[in-house]
Amino acid sequence: MEDLYKRLLEFTRDGVYRYTWEDGRILMANQGLVDILDLDCSPGALVGKLLRDVIIYTEEEGTIRHSLEKSGEVHGFEYHFKTLNGRDKWVLHDSLIVKDPDTGEKIAEAIVKDITERKHVEEELCKAHEVLAQSHEELRRLNELKSGFISAVSHEFRTPLTIIRSFSDIMAKKKLGEVNDRQLENLRTVVKQADHLSDLVTNLLDLNTIEAGKMELKMRSLSAAEFIEDVVAALAPLAAEKGVSIKARPEEGLGLVEADEHCLTRILNNLVGNAVKFTSSGGTVTVRAFEAGGMVEVDVEDDGTGIPGCYLAEIFDEFFRGPTERARQGWGAGLGLAIVKNLVEQHGGSVRVHSELGKGSMFAFTLRKAAP
Ligand SMILES: Nc1ncnc2c1ncn2[C@@H]1O[C@H](COP(=O)(O)OP(=O)(O)OP(=O)(O)O)[C@@H](O)[C@H]1O
Ligand SMILES: [Mg+2]
Repeated sequence: MEDLYKRLLEFTRDGVYRYTWEDGRILMANQGLVDILDLDCSPGALVGKLLRDVIIYTEEEGTIRHSLEKSGEVHGFEYHFKTLNGRDKWVLHDSLIVKDPDTGEKIAEAIVKDITERKHVEEELCKAHEVLAQSHEELRRLNELKSGFISAVSHEFRTPLTIIRSFSDIMAKKKLGEVNDRQLENLRTVVKQADHLSDLVTNLLDLNTIEAGKMELKMRSLSAAEFIEDVVAALAPLAAEKGVSIKARPEEGLGLVEADEHCLTRILNNLVGNAVKFTSSGGTVTVRAFEAGGMVEVDVEDDGTGIPGCYLAEIFDEFFRGPTERARQGWGAGLGLAIVKNLVEQHGGSVRVHSELGKGSMFAFTLRKAAP
């Protein structure tokens, strides 16, 4: 048995040692301790030396002594010291006090495990964490600045835009006097572009509010059928101008949904607006609504340009404008679908798309039914 202990003591990389409690004189030490202390001597050469002559203690020593004194043993105590050549070391320390059977003298027996590597990794991790936290804070600050900037600029845009639009509209309607055909055409272009810019401002402000987590939903029970009919009626002139026919087809007897009125308008306006935008003259846009799987599903279907399958995964990303020439040349910033997805999800619903290039697209979203 003694052989076994001896072999283990020589074999282990942990430091094992005994010392007198009162003055810290080393009575026994193994090679593990010599290595941990970074010394270049045999374990036997440590015997008779004082601990404080082979270790430069730092603040924890007092704590260990105090705990040992109090309870007679300590377990898993992590402490830091410096070796005589100035290297920082951390060890995991277990020790107990026993009495020498012959002299009655108090003896401390200890095992220390070198955890310096682990501590270095922990320190690096801590530093990396601090750097990350700082970057995160910086990004948050920049994001706040960006949000403030978008909000301020967008609001500043609104007033002149409204003035430009309404005066152009008044002139186009000949309320300020006769205008010739060329002037009329130009005025209508101004009105249309002002509308596009106004849509962009609305989308930017919406996205800004959503991103800042400040979109507050005022949920109430709404008639999905009425809602769809209203949005379709509001967009009918735009569709007619393009020669696109637009139909509302809510299921008979469709009940109420739980939604925020403003958000639902934004969702439908964006989807129906897209359907009209990406459908050519002679095409049709149909908005259906029906009960499915305990929810109300709204489908906005068109027989327009369609979207290539490889782009469908990105379609709901901010600023994604699609591959078609039309999308690239036309107006729009690629914000509408990102807003739709976010708002639908905030309502507890989901959104999906089915599309075939050249045949048309179908965007579907679900809403919760209002409690009866
Ligand atoms: N009904 C549709 N038919 C064909 N392509 C569509 C349809 N809806 C969306 N897309 C494609 O998805 C892209 C992203 O749509 P989204 O509504 O997010 O942006 P946008 O309409 O281009 O600009 P915005 O909505 O900001 O005015 C569009 O640019 C277009 O390529
Ligand atoms: Mg859009």
